[in-house]
Amino acid sequence: MKRNILITGGAGFIGNHVVRLFVNKYPEYHIINLDKLTYAGNLANLRDIEGMPNYTFVKADICDYEVIKKLLAQYEIDGVIHLAAETHVDRSIKDPFVFARTNVMGTLTLLQAANEYWESRPEGYEGKRFYHISTDEVYGALELTDPEGIESPFTTKASSAEHHHAYGREFFLETTKYNPHSPYSAAKAGSDHFVRAFHDTYGMPTVVTNCSNNYGPYQFPEKLIPLFINNIRHRKPLPVYGKGENVRDWLYVVDHARAIDVIFHRGRVAETYNIGGFNEWKNIDIIKVLIKTVDRLLGRPEGADNDLITHISDRKGHDVRYAIDSRKLKDELGWEPSLQFEEGIEKTVKWYLDNQEWMDNVTSGDYQRYYVDMYKGR
Ligand code: NAD
Ligand code: TYD
Repeated sequence: MKRNILITGGAGFIGNHVVRLFVNKYPEYHIINLDKLTYAGNLANLRDIEGMPNYTFVKADICDYEVIKKLLAQYEIDGVIHLAAETHVDRSIKDPFVFARTNVMGTLTLLQAANEYWESRPEGYEGKRFYHISTDEVYGALELTDPEGIESPFTTKASSAEHHHAYGREFFLETTKYNPHSPYSAAKAGSDHFVRAFHDTYGMPTVVTNCSNNYGPYQFPEKLIPLFINNIRHRKPLPVYGKGENVRDWLYVVDHARAIDVIFHRGRVAETYNIGGFNEWKNIDIIKVLIKTVDRLLGRPEGADNDLITHISDRKGHDVRYAIDSRKLKDELGWEPSLQFEEGIEKTVKWYLDNQEWMDNVTSGDYQRYYVDMYKGR
């Protein structure tokens, strides 16, 4: 079936993996990647597919209502996969306004424009879908210790629901009450509410997913994993917030893209699906794995870079633990992560070490000058 799908934020970290998957897997679809190319957007992430006949890039701001309305009609969009957002918690602490603008107003702008366009069509909402990508951070934070007070292993390989539930641990479920703490998660929560409101008010066919922390190639090096890989390589200090005891649930980015594919096509309208890997790690343990892996791959002696770990004062309002229960997605749609964490981390570290040019361009800002000039006026 032919479809015209608008993917927003496709030049960002997760977006480029989603665009690549859709362009390659569905040659009969036309994929329109709309991105403002903020500091986080980089068209070099998409070089391998930029010449594909079923792919179009448009530089635009999701807050620009007139432009979005025009594009929806011009490309006869029947599906939206919305990833564009401001995404870094530390930036949201310093400058919350842009988070409200992009994440809340940008999402509302897309919803309103899509709703008007679809309502104006003779077939209405038939065959349409608005898929909003969100985060587990909207649920707030979980306790670090289990109800029994057992210091249970967060860093074992056993990444099954049964293992974790055996400890009586708490998880984020689709029904967990929203309780965002950072300006980033508050803005994402606001956008999630608007998406659900458009379903409940107008009957718009929406779906929302809340995913845990992603890792993998093409992540902007302000986030923990790429920042630390690059710092270890260059023997720069590793700034660990507090004791490094905070826990995150890590998912390989391509597995997130696979989940988005499954949910876009088969997820039930108006539903929420949690996406996660049952893969919880304390930051400090992940950092040790990164040091070990980078040093091994660079042929440095084991433990050579342990002294780069530098504890700094904690992030303001630092959420202690995130952990997703994604059994609904598994039971309903059969999705599961395909990679064990050890494998995913090895691939990821190798990718960053092999793509130093990408990292240098991103850290120097060169990627923006080149590509922004190239697409000026589009
Ligand atoms: P990212 O910061 O790497 O990329 C965001 C992209 O959005 C960039 O390409 C940027 O140019 C674009 N963008 C920003 N503002 C825009 C605007 N006003 N108009 C058009 N484009 C704009 O983000 P990411 O990590 O790829 O996250 C993508 C989505 O997934 C976000 O909605 C985020 O909340 C969600 N998410 C991320 C994670 C994660 O671990 N990275 C986990 C769960 C959910
Ligand atoms: P991050 O990658 O920013 O993702 P998020 O805050 O959305 O979970 O951070 C992951 C964890 O790593 C988080 O607990 C904060 C911590 N962290 C550090 O200790 N130092 C750093 O320099 C960064 C970027 C993160």
